[in-house]
Amino acid sequence: MCGILGYEGALQATPLIFKGLKQLSYRGYDSWGICAQTKKGLQTFKRVGDITKSNEPKFDSTKAIGHTRWATHGKVTQKNAHPHLNESGTIAVVHNGIIENADDLRLALEDEGYKFKSETDTEVIPHLLDYFAKRYDDHTALLKTLKHLKGSYAFLALLKGRLAFARDGSPLVIGLSNSGKFISSDIPSFLHHTRKTIVLEDGDWGFADEDRIYSGKEIVSRPARIESWDVEVAKKGTYPHFMLKEIEEQQMTIRKALNQDGRIKIAADLLSRSEVYILGCGTSYNTGAIASYELAKAGIRAIPSLASEFEPHLPFINEDSIIIALSQSGETKDVIDAVREAKKKQAKIISIVNTPGSTLARGADIHIPMKSGPEICVLSTKSATAQLAILSLLTHEIENKSPDLLREAAACAPHVIAQTKRVAKQLAKKLKDTRSIFTIGRGPLAPLAREAALKIKEVSYIHAEGMPAGELKHGPIALIEPGVPVIVFADSNTRTLTISNALEVKARGAYVIGIDSKNHPAYDTHIQIPDIEEATPMLALLPIQLLSYYLALERGCDPDKPRNLAKSVTVR
Ligand code: F6R
Repeated sequence: MCGILGYEGALQATPLIFKGLKQLSYRGYDSWGICAQTKKGLQTFKRVGDITKSNEPKFDSTKAIGHTRWATHGKVTQKNAHPHLNESGTIAVVHNGIIENADDLRLALEDEGYKFKSETDTEVIPHLLDYFAKRYDDHTALLKTLKHLKGSYAFLALLKGRLAFARDGSPLVIGLSNSGKFISSDIPSFLHHTRKTIVLEDGDWGFADEDRIYSGKEIVSRPARIESWDVEVAKKGTYPHFMLKEIEEQQMTIRKALNQDGRIKIAADLLSRSEVYILGCGTSYNTGAIASYELAKAGIRAIPSLASEFEPHLPFINEDSIIIALSQSGETKDVIDAVREAKKKQAKIISIVNTPGSTLARGADIHIPMKSGPEICVLSTKSATAQLAILSLLTHEIENKSPDLLREAAACAPHVIAQTKRVAKQLAKKLKDTRSIFTIGRGPLAPLAREAALKIKEVSYIHAEGMPAGELKHGPIALIEPGVPVIVFADSNTRTLTISNALEVKARGAYVIGIDSKNHPAYDTHIQIPDIEEATPMLALLPIQLLSYYLALERGCDPDKPRNLAKSVTVR
């Protein structure tokens, strides 16, 4: 949610920032801006809209900061686009997060004579920096500014010709290359220059021209690490969209996710002795809910909870509780906050996270990496199947079962993708003008139906609702009229009852699409997937991801950057 990037070094900074911001634009694409330190002072360029559709500004500079915005405070306008500057134009700031006491700070600064140009919370930062920089040295000015900020932030500032950084509650990582230093919200923005990183912790701050990192007044040690992510994976290559590329990558990523070390055993041991909660948001919540059925069969009562609605569970959390935190980005604020609350009560945290070095990857007792590589499309696809694969692996470990069945499912993925592509394309043509789509299933296929609806609606903007098949008759069936598409997920465990529900909607004229290993007369269109017991939901996701992708194309939507969304949701 908002991407920030700074560079200081030997190379021309603006092209690096411009290119890096394009890589970061999955974090927000409402507007973008760059500010460069030049011989003439600070020079700024801002535009509304997606940076990938813009031309590069030309500044002669080796030090610059940039921002790609997902609007929180203030409309999507050029005025509200970052960087924000002090009145004299000597201090510039780009920020990710929310300054919660911005209104109070603004009033106080206005009393001091400061004039604001934007509606953003961010603009208090350059003014505060200005206020303190007039009175103190750079370090003190920055530290005093940080002391006044409440909320969550990662920000970069050009302050008296120096590149300053600070983080508290939003991600920030330094990239160390031979040609200079990058400071960014996310690794892919500088991955083509270096894989050597320093992940900053909350409370850290400093200046790019120093090797020291501070927390409060203390100098802290933050070791450098070499990231395993491959730069090629962060590129679109010959694919028209990252979404299609990432759907197809599942041929490998499911297999990679299953290739884990001894941590799976330690996590499985913990789970089998405790009360378990599975936390996530959006797709990550849905995959947790799907997996909870399999865990229940293995004797583990795992309660799925939306991270944003975890509060009612908190009174029951204690040192015997285990939290499984699921997150592609590892930076989802709702999840981080819920995990923090659980930790206060001594719960143990197992995180299943894709982004190395992220807050949730670092803050867990056991971290199981998804190994999917960068997921650039805003929609979760390969990370969803990786989560399912890992949760199944955990369950197999608890039950002392061989993971062969999961490997078999991974081996089927290429076939399922290849076989279902054509029918997904045809269906997309047929359904492109429909107003609503319903998706139903039972057991683990009920949260899978919810995930299917989420995929369809977020990328094609067709209203889609996913629900347990048994719930249809308790209300939603009122919406079924001739021609309304209903996607039915069924497997050998759930088929008999689910087909009854399919027949109920068919009797009312619905157009029924069955995603099932077996065909049935209830289905107007049948998408065949293999029935591989508990691994079936993982495979059933593939045709729905493809259908969502082709629906987006048919309707002229950008599958990689659906409107109003951002990849990493770092606000609550
Ligand atoms: C759906 C989607 C979102 C994310 C959710 C959680 O395609 O991408 O619903 O799943 O924002 O994100 P992570 O997994 O990064 O915590």
